[in-house]
Amino acid sequence: MDIPTKNTRKILVTQALPYANAPLHLGHILEAVQTDIWTRFHNMNGNQCYFFCADDTHGTPVMLKAKEMGITPEELIKDVLNDHKETYDLYGIKFTNFYTTHSEENKKYSEKIYLEAKKNNLISKEIVEQLYDENEQMFLSDRFIKGSCPKCGAADQHGDNCGVCGASYNVLEIKDPISILSGTTPIKKKSEHIFFDLPQKLEILSKFLHESKLQKPIKNKLKEWLSDDLKKWDISRDEPYFGFKIPEEDNKYFYVWVDAPIGYIASMDNWFKNNNLDTDTIWSNKSNYEIYHFIGKDISYFHGLFWPALLSSANLKLPDGIFVHGFLTINGEKMSKSKGTGILAKDFAKICDPETLRYYFAAKLNDKVEDIDLNFDDYVQRINSDLVGKYLNIASRSASFLKKNKNNLSDNINKELITLLINEKQNVINLYEEREYSKLIRLIMDLADNVNKYINEQTPWKKDLNDAVDISSTALNAFKIITIYLTPIIPNLAENAYKFLNLKNCSFDDVNTLLNGQINNYESLLNRLEPLIIPEEDNMENKNIIDIKQFSSIDLRVAKIIKAEDVDGADKLLRLTLDVGELGTRNVFAGIKSSYKPEDLSDRMVVLVNNLAPREMKFGVSEGMVLASSNDNGIYLISPDKGAEAGMKIK
Ligand code: MSP
Ligand code: ZN
Repeated sequence: MDIPTKNTRKILVTQALPYANAPLHLGHILEAVQTDIWTRFHNMNGNQCYFFCADDTHGTPVMLKAKEMGITPEELIKDVLNDHKETYDLYGIKFTNFYTTHSEENKKYSEKIYLEAKKNNLISKEIVEQLYDENEQMFLSDRFIKGSCPKCGAADQHGDNCGVCGASYNVLEIKDPISILSGTTPIKKKSEHIFFDLPQKLEILSKFLHESKLQKPIKNKLKEWLSDDLKKWDISRDEPYFGFKIPEEDNKYFYVWVDAPIGYIASMDNWFKNNNLDTDTIWSNKSNYEIYHFIGKDISYFHGLFWPALLSSANLKLPDGIFVHGFLTINGEKMSKSKGTGILAKDFAKICDPETLRYYFAAKLNDKVEDIDLNFDDYVQRINSDLVGKYLNIASRSASFLKKNKNNLSDNINKELITLLINEKQNVINLYEEREYSKLIRLIMDLADNVNKYINEQTPWKKDLNDAVDISSTALNAFKIITIYLTPIIPNLAENAYKFLNLKNCSFDDVNTLLNGQINNYESLLNRLEPLIIPEEDNMENKNIIDIKQFSSIDLRVAKIIKAEDVDGADKLLRLTLDVGELGTRNVFAGIKSSYKPEDLSDRMVVLVNNLAPREMKFGVSEGMVLASSNDNGIYLISPDKGAEAGMKIK
């Protein structure tokens, strides 16, 4: 058991839970690096700091993605969880526990917090009218609707705002709405929803705002939201939904943003149980733990309002602070998760040592909510000039003189230089604590400059071996201190540096001790970076690369249309009866009516996706899909060359 010294703080840290419907991109890594540095710093500085996260698994996007892939949501989130863990690992992100929101623990705490809120009269019901897709048999959230702007009439606009005139509106106001899921016109449908009474929490939220650690612009934003007219929060969703059922209700599900932050508690609970710690005590108002959330600016509302309101309604401890960062842009361009642009973290790790990205992010991060640009030229230049040219240069140039001395260090060192470095320790600690990493890197690189200047002035290459060893031993002591200062940022590089210095991993206390004895031969710890070239196919714009195995899992067949008919009540669909040779016939609904007359299609040869999961539609079951392409002028069926026969496999 470790005995906490009297100044030891106990700190629980989280980063936002990444959605389980896609691989991680570099924006996720920015957040993880910022949080990981802070956690590692605290642990190196004698505190007990734990870092928790999980995959955010519930909600419509995961459900639809799984359906599209023909697997269950459970299978999808299991694969994604492994992939996410592997990716974070590549970047040296050291979680205390990385869990999933689809867990028993999370179900338990979600129900518990909800039922407490209900007991405290914070839950009510209201009838809500929404757009409903009859084909898919589901209610549509705004993001699955397109239509014409009710203000300016621009076509093809989002469900709740217009990209042309900038108007925002209620999705029910949009003209000629179309469901993105099925391409059909949704109907308006009513359903009872469950609401959390946010306005009742106004006072507690104002108090939270004043007492917790928040950045100024976030504080102002929250104040503004609080002084606007707060509305009750809709916390239920109807079937079909991948999530937890709401207790004491029929077929109502918790909206994913209810159980997502509760997933923080669940991830901790899962680990606490195995480490003899009691979740309920740690999350009680009397807790002696500090709790901090690192998040991106887009989810401030959820963490600054909904989350403390939920916690307080169950009498749980509120966070001590929320640290918000801006968004990552790449070479000046926005990454967009909905468009899927942005570089995948796994791909980037193939072309670049992840440790150097940690360094670059640190060099750009501060405590502001500003966006951060990853510029490839600047990146390469920064790594080569700082890490290779300044920091590691100290080690490589000094090691050569020690080698001539059988790697034996001298203890006749220049105290003045070493004191200069030791004296910055408190500044370093403060800058870490304040998350001013960019200032911190500047400070540390100034120290490295000082050391290189010392070596240049002392000219060990002109001196006899004894003097050269004294100078180099001084420089290596300085290198050790700088390594300690940099360890939270570049932990793996630092570990190799410690090996070179014959040290075990160091803490901030070790800054004050001097090296003695022997070091090891220096082997290059990092090579200069070449200009970065992202291979075309690794670019997210072309990210949907599949391998031959995945391709051959699609059973493509030549098929012959034996009958094509209009479908009553569907203005886009034709019902096709297909002859697939010895495989028999298939019934397929195809959205090609705008370009084809049924009578022109008889005997036409097409390409059928034969093993697509059958799809239940209002008009019957669709047993596959015929291939076609389209542009603004129309739809074009794909046909095999003359001679192909129905049923032939396409490979
Ligand atoms: N699942 C929610 C969070 C639930 S927390 C209880 C979510 N997931 S996310 O995958 O979309 O985003 C996870 C985190 O990554 C968020 O903090 C988000 O702000 C951050 N980022 C997403 N894109 C980003 C950039 N381009 N740059 C920096 N951070 C970005 O939101
Ligand atoms: Zn408009």
